[in-house]
Amino acid sequence: MALRKVVTKEDPILRKKSRPVTDINRRIHTLLDDMAETMYDSDGVGLAAPQVGILRRVIVIDVRDDTGLIELINPEILEQSGSNFEEEGCLSVPGISARVERPDRVKVRGLNRLGEEVIYEAEGFLAKAFCHEIDHLEGMLFIDRPHELVEDEE
Ligand code: CO
Repeated sequence: MALRKVVTKEDPILRKKSRPVTDINRRIHTLLDDMAETMYDSDGVGLAAPQVGILRRVIVIDVRDDTGLIELINPEILEQSGSNFEEEGCLSVPGISARVERPDRVKVRGLNRLGEEVIYEAEGFLAKAFCHEIDHLEGMLFIDRPHELVEDEE
């Protein structure tokens, strides 16, 4: 495993759409390993592949609850409901926290590293994390959505 460099909001790669993974090979496993290591090293709760310069539909999330580490390939939101307007941040947008409206509950489907279909039903902060990371795969940062700045440490 190795740490990867997290690109920041000035990098145009963050505004590009990521392509689906068609072959879950060793390269993807290494990417998942490196993304998790990089997320934990930065005290982050999620990371999407474009943040480490790879335009592939791969995300990792760990909101430090009972769910533990989530690795998801080609994730998609199947259902969403409710509303949540809590604070969020992003390793690619250092020093900024903002409230963004998100669904309060989501059902997400994707593939795990074995290529098996997995479904997560999440609410609250974890639901927000799924939405935030999946936005990255569409080339969208949380500050590109309507938001209310909470603090700016810069
Ligand atoms: Co982010």
